[in-house]
Amino acid sequence: MTYKVLHIGAGGFGERWCDTFLPPNVADGTIEVVGLVDIDAKALETGRNHLGLKPEQCFTSAAQAFQTIDADFCTIVIPPALHEGIVDLALARGMHILSEKPIADTMEASVRIADKVKAAGRKMAVTMSHRFDQDKSTLRSLISGDALGRINTVSCRFAGDFRVYDSWGRFRHEMVHPMLIEGAVHHLDIMADLAGAPCISIFARSWKPDWAEYKGDTDVIVMMDFENGGHGVYEASCAQATGLNDWSSEYFRVEAASGTAILDHREVEVFHRHPPGPGRQTSRQGRGQQVPLLTGRKWQNTLLIEEFCQWLDGGPAMATNVDDNLQSVALVFAAIESARLGEPVKVQEYLQSFRNSASIEAR
Ligand SMILES: NC(=O)c1ccc[n+]([C@@H]2O[C@H](COP(=O)([O-])OP(=O)(O)OC[C@H]3O[C@@H](n4cnc5c(N)ncnc54)[C@H](O)[C@@H]3O)[C@@H](O)[C@H]2O)c1
Repeated sequence: MTYKVLHIGAGGFGERWCDTFLPPNVADGTIEVVGLVDIDAKALETGRNHLGLKPEQCFTSAAQAFQTIDADFCTIVIPPALHEGIVDLALARGMHILSEKPIADTMEASVRIADKVKAAGRKMAVTMSHRFDQDKSTLRSLISGDALGRINTVSCRFAGDFRVYDSWGRFRHEMVHPMLIEGAVHHLDIMADLAGAPCISIFARSWKPDWAEYKGDTDVIVMMDFENGGHGVYEASCAQATGLNDWSSEYFRVEAASGTAILDHREVEVFHRHPPGPGRQTSRQGRGQQVPLLTGRKWQNTLLIEEFCQWLDGGPAMATNVDDNLQSVALVFAAIESARLGEPVKVQEYLQSFRNSASIEAR
C-alpha cells in the first residue's frame, strides 16, 4: 500500500527530507507526499519544487494543513520544542507520526508524547538517522552475534567545527545543552545499540570554551555503564578547532574480549586477538583488516521511512518506536542531570520517575 504523507518542515534539515529522503520512497510507491508545511514561504516553495507539489497542497500554517489534508501519517522536521504541538494536531486527525529526533526538547514532553500516542492507539517512530547509516550498520554487523566476544567498551568521538554563531542552525546556538540535546542524542543512542544493552548509569561533564558562540554547553565528556557489564566513553565538541570527526565522520571503537573494531571517517577495520602464545600483541589503527561497507538500497531516513510504512503494514515494530526511543532521550537528559549534580545518574530510575509522575498527573 502507498501511504499518504503530510510533511512538516521544508527548511533546514527539512530540505534534505524534501530533496533526498522522501523522493526515493515516492519513486518506488512506498509513499505519496500529499501536503507540505513551513512557516517560511521561501523554504516552502523550494520544498514544493523538490517534491513536485501543487500550490494548494502547501501551507504556512500547520493547523490549516491538518484541517485540509487527509494523510495516513505526518513527518515532523521542525525544532524539538515544537514537536509536541504537531503531535497533538496529528493525533486529533488520527494520523500516525514519524518524527525527527529528539522526541521533544524535555524529558517531560517526550514522556507526554509517548503516552498520548499510546492513548490514541496510533504509531509513532523517531528517525535516529545516524544509527541507520551505512557505516554504523557495518560496524554493528561486525560485532553482532558475539563475533568478537563479549563487548567491554564502546568509545565515540564527535569533533565538529560549528563554533561561529549560526553555523549549526540558530536555535542550537541559543538553546541549553546544544551538544547533548542535538548531538549526543545520536551518539549515545548508537553507543547503547553497539553495547547491546540499556544504559544503567551515566556520568557527564559539560562546559563551553570561550570561543564557542553559544549560550549552552558545546563540549561534553560522558561515561556510561550498560546492563550487560559493558562500558561507554564519549567525548564531543561542536566547537572543536579543526573538525576532526564531523557529522557522518565520527570515530567509534568497540573493544571486545577477542578483538577491536574501529569506525573512523566511514572506514571500518577490525583487529583479532592472536591465539594464546608467548609475548604480547600490539596493533595500530590503519593496519587492521579493512571491512567493506554493507551494501543496501536505502540508508538513514530514507530507510526509516520505508521501515515505518512496513510497520504500518503490520510488520515488526520499528526499533525506534517512540516508547523504546525514550531510552535515547533519557540518556541525554540523565546526562544533563548528571552534569548539573556533578555525580552519576541511574538512567532507568531517572526515566521511570518521569513515567510515574506522568501517570499521577493523568489520574
Ligand atoms: N537526523 C539528523 O541527522 C538531523 C539533522 C539535523 C536536524 N535534525 C532534526 O530536525 C529537526 C529540525 O531541525 P533543523 O535543523 O532543520 O531546524 P531549522 O530551524 O533549521 O529548520 C526548521 C524548519 O522548520 C520551519 N518551522 C519552524 N517552526 C515551524 C512551524 N511551527 N510549522 C512549520 N514549520 C516550522 C522553519 O521555518 C524551518 O524551515 C529537529 O528535530 C532536529 O533535531 C535531525
